[in-house]
Amino acid sequence: MEKLSFFLFLLIGGNFLLVVTCYQNGQVTPSCINMIPNHGVSAQTTLAPYNITASKNTYSPGEKITVTLQGSDVFEGFLLQARTAGGTAAVGTFTITNATISQGLDCNGPNSAVSHKSSTGLTNIQATWVAPSSSAGDLEFRATFVKSKLTFWVQVKSSQVTFNTTAFGSSSSSFNPNIMLHLPLILFVSGILMCYN
Ligand SMILES: *[C@@H]1O[C@H](CO)[C@@H](O)[C@H](O)[C@H]1NC(C)=O
Ligand SMILES: *[C@@H]1O[C@H](CO)[C@@H](O)[C@H](O)[C@H]1NC(C)=O
Ligand SMILES: *[C@@H]1O[C@H](CO)[C@@H](O)[C@H](O)[C@H]1NC(C)=O
Repeated sequence: MEKLSFFLFLLIGGNFLLVVTCYQNGQVTPSCINMIPNHGVSAQTTLAPYNITASKNTYSPGEKITVTLQGSDVFEGFLLQARTAGGTAAVGTFTITNATISQGLDCNGPNSAVSHKSSTGLTNIQATWVAPSSSAGDLEFRATFVKSKLTFWVQVKSSQVTFNTTAFGSSSSSFNPNIMLHLPLILFVSGILMCYN
């Protein structure tokens, strides 16, 4: 029941956001939340012939993860986001690796989503995702794959990507540039602790 009302909420909320046109140029920001292309038909309910894989299953602040969209069939459009598991807001940012075929979109800040740039047959797309500067909890990548105007699969999910909780705890032998950003804070806090000891 809860699931159903949540679905209705998404459906109704999403429809308010939708505007007309078929987004052949990939400018699909009105579909940011429900990830449904406004093509006048429903999404496929069968198992998608496409999948999303991430190069890692944990992330640390600012870490880069390569995300691959591929399948056994070509697709002509896509919309990719990282989200907190079960959430609706896009998390982190994407670096566009090939601007000929993909572009960044503002779904929750600049480049928080990626879409296709033109309707050409794609078989494999890679994007680099940059984790936010602090933990956003457990994440998953979600993508809509458009095979053709009337045939598309919505919110195909990757496996979960969990936050690396040891990122700041363990003494790693490899240099972690993120620590530099936090150095002033660390010094400040350790300064305070020393004052009280
Ligand atoms: C994803 O799809 C590709 C191409 O069809 C396939 O080779 C690969 O095994 C799939 N990966 C997973 C995790 O399903
Ligand atoms: C970008 O994608 C286009 C179309 O698939 C391809 O021809 C080109 O070689 C790619 N460029 C890079 C730098 O990968
Ligand atoms: C988690 O973070 C620690 C400390 O930065 C690092 O040594 C370790 O390799 C990370 N684990 C993974 C799976 O990336």
